[in-house]
Formats: sequence, structure tokens, C-alpha cells
Amino acid sequence: MAIKYTPKVIQEFTNPENVGEIENANASSTEGSPACGDMITYNMIINPDTKIIEDIKFRSYGCASNIATASVATKIAKGKHIDEVMGLTPKAVTESLDGLPAVKIHCSVLAINGLKSAIRKWNEKYSDMEKSDEFKLDEETIVRALRNVINPETGVSIVKMNMVRMIEIETGKVYVELMMGDTDEMFFNNIEEETREHLEDLPGVLNVIIKLTEGKSYSFE
Ligand code: FES
Repeated sequence: MAIKYTPKVIQEFTNPENVGEIENANASSTEGSPACGDMITYNMIINPDTKIIEDIKFRSYGCASNIATASVATKIAKGKHIDEVMGLTPKAVTESLDGLPAVKIHCSVLAINGLKSAIRKWNEKYSDMEKSDEFKLDEETIVRALRNVINPETGVSIVKMNMVRMIEIETGKVYVELMMGDTDEMFFNNIEEETREHLEDLPGVLNVIIKLTEGKSYSFE
């Protein structure tokens, strides 16, 4: 049976905006959806003083709603402060498109995750925290980093979903236990990889050990 899209999805897919590359981009990301293997690349110019996304373009390697959701995501992000974009959920994209078929919700998750990944990488390069000698590797900094790990099934941070059950830090070694709750097993690898990536990027982290625990529904924060 053919997938039924709203007129807005068809409009964005047939006339996407902000397609292409930015030569002098200072932030970029290429993210894939663990649900389907489709990919999006974003290029951005983030003003280091104002932290406003001054320009953004995308390339899609995926389906019609991959293109439509990326186009809408760039329009939402352009001109916004990076903190505002970090607070977005896939709902911002689906609402702008008057909804997506259930089997295509993950396209909006990918579109938003890609934006956040580019900002996170930019932050890692430019953030005052990293440059500061006062940076302390403690539970608070670990939780802050884990807030950027999104469960691809729900589009919600693993911290917000109360999946982080234990954090231990010992001379450069970070141990994290995640409770997978109702998460589909097909997303386990992605969550583990994202968690590792975010923690390994923190200054002073030499070794990351992640334990995934099954069982129990998670409760939202
Ligand atoms: Fe996966 Fe669209 S089907 S991004």
C-alpha cells in the first residue's frame, strides 16, 4: 500500500530549501538512521560570539521524507541560537509538516539528531568549558554530555528517559550503566555507540565502560 503523505510533506520534498554545501562551514555532521540506513549531512555557519546559526544547508541520502524533514529542520534552525536548537524534539519537524506516517517518524528523529550532532561537535571544538583549566570530570559533566544522547526510537534524551542508572568515575575511567527498558533491541548498538562517542570526547576521559541492562519500563524525568 502506498504511503500517504500530507500536502506539506509533498511540497517540501518537491521543493526542498537549503540544499547543498557551505564552503566556509564551521560545523557539520553526517548522521544515519539506525532504523533504515538513510543519511543526512548538514553544514552550518555558527557565529562564535552570538552562537546563532547564520547559515545551514543539507544533503540527503534517503527517502522522500528524509528530504522533507531535513528541509524543514534547516528552516527551523536557521537564525536560532544553538541552545534553542538543542532543545528541539522531532515533534517540531513533524508539526511543521502537518504530521508524518508512523513508519516515517524516524525520519524526523534523524533530521533533528543531525542538527544536534553538528552543534555538539562545534561545541566540543569551541566551548569555553573545554578550553578552561577549571574543567572537572565529575558526575555532573557526565550527565550533561549524556543529555545529548538521543534514544532513536523515541527522539528523547536517555537522561530524560531515566535510562542512566549508574555513573562511576575513577582516574580517567568512566563506567556507565544504562537501563534499556522498552527500547527495541535493534537500537542498542546505536545508543551504546552514541554514549561512548559523547563520553570519549570529554577532556580527561581515557576509557569508557558501558553496561546495557534490560528489563523494566523506563519512567520519564
Ligand atoms: Fe529512513 Fe526516511 S525512511 S530517513
